[in-house]
Amino acid sequence: MWGGRFAEGPSALMREINASIAFDKRLWRQDIAASKAHAAMLAVRGIITQEDADAIEEGLDRVADEYEASGVPENASLEDIHMHVEHRLAELIGPAAGRLHTARSRNDQVATDFRLWVREAMDDALDALAALQRALVARAEEHAESIMPGFTHLQVAQPVTLGHHLMAWYEMIRRDRSRLEDARKRMNESPLGAAALAGTSFPIDREAAALALGFDKATANSLDSVSDRDFALDYLMAATQCALHLSRMAEEFIIWASQPFSFIALHDAYSTGSSIMPQKRNPDAAELVRGHSGRVAGAMTALVMTMKGLPLAYSKDMQDDKQPVFEAHDLLALSIAAMTGMVETTTFNTDRMRAAAEQGHSTATDLADWLVRAANVPFREAHHITGRAVKLAEDRGLPLWELPLEALRDIDPRIDQSVFDVLSVDASVRSRTSHGGTAPAEVRARIKEAKKALGV
Ligand code: ARG
Repeated sequence: MWGGRFAEGPSALMREINASIAFDKRLWRQDIAASKAHAAMLAVRGIITQEDADAIEEGLDRVADEYEASGVPENASLEDIHMHVEHRLAELIGPAAGRLHTARSRNDQVATDFRLWVREAMDDALDALAALQRALVARAEEHAESIMPGFTHLQVAQPVTLGHHLMAWYEMIRRDRSRLEDARKRMNESPLGAAALAGTSFPIDREAAALALGFDKATANSLDSVSDRDFALDYLMAATQCALHLSRMAEEFIIWASQPFSFIALHDAYSTGSSIMPQKRNPDAAELVRGHSGRVAGAMTALVMTMKGLPLAYSKDMQDDKQPVFEAHDLLALSIAAMTGMVETTTFNTDRMRAAAEQGHSTATDLADWLVRAANVPFREAHHITGRAVKLAEDRGLPLWELPLEALRDIDPRIDQSVFDVLSVDASVRSRTSHGGTAPAEVRARIKEAKKALGV
């Protein structure tokens, strides 16, 4: 397709290093859609005849049917998907196919195709994450009152509700969606018609082609259009952040499923056995979600490194933009789906969670707060008094709320019977009614907002 000025063909090695068809064939739908929009626009502008445009459109539909039915047949001497489509079109419709490439270049073509692909990847992730959010909200509603330990440093800190914990995950995913939505808005401009780098002398209508492909408008600078891969980086960065969230959730599943914790029983559908230890039930899906996050971050880093230092406008380095995006997309899709399945099917051992919440004197802060509120003790002093009470409880091997009143009054005589109203885990949780706090009423209010936002 470009052999005119060469006396000899490329070496086998040149062909090998140059060919991208093995991976960019995933762009075939986008390539055909963009070509159809381009041909239609060329005809409207009188740059090609309507007859040729019709032949091109019908031919492209036939190519699409063939690819749909039996995949893209790979031919390394045709380099990439763009040349594969055009070559097959020429076989099917003859010389009219040669007019399709008027007023465009593979540089704006690949930028357009890839944008369309990434836009769809963003939409897929947005939908899948919404399903995960729905699963989280449903389980949170079920467990708005279930007590579990809240941790800092993985040490029991204060009791919280399981619903509150699940809604924390919901918030992480809400931000992931907003990042993707934001990136999608920013990227939805069409580079088609930027041609090789400088625009074209043909009287094209870039705006019409842009709108036909669902873009908001045409890009403003032809040099930028063919060299910009921000949209792919935005996607990879959003995907990385999302994968990190999924990894952190997965890590909690793994810890919770471990016998010393036993907070959850993973469903059979999301666990595997050991070939040597018959008793084992391993959280492999969660571990792979955790593991895949590293590969998604690696894909992001790969494209960052590829783009770093490239001069305007197009350089062939940029052909390496696709594999990281495809890999991140596939891993993320699997990870979101697996996490959704785990959230939906896991059994929460609420008795066990409550018992764990009662360990570690988790209501010590409530005692300190009570001293501040009921006895007007400055918080720093209250903290010290509470520390002594915790020490005493530890010495006696009792939870804080089982210490006799006299023992507490020996530490500080301002303590009275009403302190016991705040020392149970239930009272502690119920009392945290500040906005975004763990009190069941508060968690239910956030769940209500979430359901409204999700339309459920
Ligand atoms: N396969 C190429 C890519 O993905 C298409 C653009 C080729 N442009 C060029 N000037 N060789 O980047």
